[in-house]
Parts: sequence; structure tokens; C-alpha cells
Amino acid sequence: MKFILIVLVTLNFAFAQKDNFENEAKALATDLKMSLMKNLSDKISKDGPVEAIPFCHANVKPIAKEAAKDRISKFEFGRTSHKVRNEANGPQPWALKYLKEFEGKKKDEVSQTSIVHRLENGKRVYMEPLFVEAKCLLCHGNNISENVINKIQDLYPKDKAIGFQLGEFRGFIWVREK
Ligand code: HEC
Repeated sequence: MKFILIVLVTLNFAFAQKDNFENEAKALATDLKMSLMKNLSDKISKDGPVEAIPFCHANVKPIAKEAAKDRISKFEFGRTSHKVRNEANGPQPWALKYLKEFEGKKKDEVSQTSIVHRLENGKRVYMEPLFVEAKCLLCHGNNISENVINKIQDLYPKDKAIGFQLGEFRGFIWVREK
């Protein structure tokens, strides 16, 4: 009886852990997205897109850290893409397969809203696809205004994150267990 109880408790713990990771990672990804977008939108409406670019350049990480709060001790997180603006966001090996799967797809062609990938060391990574909305085109689209594109090229001479279309897969936001 004792043995069965222990097995049950252990199993229950294992299931709870799985659900917890996915739920916590999803909540963190949502907070990161909302916080980044809010800060970006506020900056664009206050000072315009040209000023929003250096603002992003300097503040993406601190904004994300602030949104993550104490979860920073449990998770690492970031954004990645098949076409990056900042090379520091370049894909880690575990992301490549999924980027290939999603590359070029439109939101309505994709049914998967999130992915959980297990790394060789047993840790898990949660990924959520990001799709291009109208406001993203300002800095990632086909018709970027000249002063915006000049600013982007100043700060990111190797930028590849342009030419995206409305609704197209842009990249992943990811959350990894530490
Ligand atoms: C005001 C210009 C601007 C707008 C609008 C904008 N971005 Fe970006 N985006 C940037 C800059 C600048 C970076 C590089 C940030 C950095 O240095 O990490 C970036 C980086 C990214 C990255 C990380 C991968 C990479 O290319 O380095 C993703 C993913 C991304 N943007 C998606 C979006 C999405 C989705 C939207 C719309 C919801 C959006 N962006 C709107 C300027 C913008």
C-alpha cells in the first residue's frame, strides 16, 4: 500500500511538473510579448518609428528582464528567427528544425500555436511562433520608409529581418528551463 502511494505521488508529481513548465513558460512568453509591444507602441506613438529603433536596440533586454521578474532564476528566454536583425538572436541548434518548418508560412497555414522541445540534457524549451502584424511592417516589411531603413542599417549593418509580409511567420519567442 505504501509503495503504491509513493508511485502515485511520484507520478502525480511528474505530470504536475510537465503541466507547470508549459503553463509557466506560456505565461512568461505572454508577459514578454505584451511588455515588449506596449513599450514599442508607446515609443512609436510618442517619438515615431525612427526613434523607436535605437530604443529597441538598447532596451529590449532590460524590458524583457523587467517583465520576467523573479522567473529569471528559473528560465532563460529570447527571440529568434530564420532572418534576424540582431545576430545575437541567431538560432540556437535546437531551433533550426522548427524554423525550417515554419519559414515562409502564413498564420492561417499553421495549426500549432506552441512547441515543447526536450534538449539532450533533459531540459525543455517552449517556443511560440510570432506572426507579422500591420504594425510590424513599419520595421520588418517591404516598404520601409527611408529614414527608418537608414537607422536600421546604421545599427544593424547585417540586418536580414526585412521583406516580411502581413501574416507571415517572423520567428519564435522561446523560454528554456535553466
Ligand atoms: C520600430 C521598429 C520595429 C517594429 C515596429 C517591430 N520591430 Fe521587431 N525588431 C526591431 C529591432 C530594432 C529589432 C532588434 C532588437 C535587438 O537588438 O534585439 C527587432 C527584432 C525582432 C525579433 C528578434 C529576432 C531578430 O530579428 O533579431 C523579432 C522576432 C521581431 N523583431 C518581431 C517583431 C514583430 C512580430 C513585430 C510586430 C508585432 C515587430 N518585430 C515590430 C524593430 C522593430
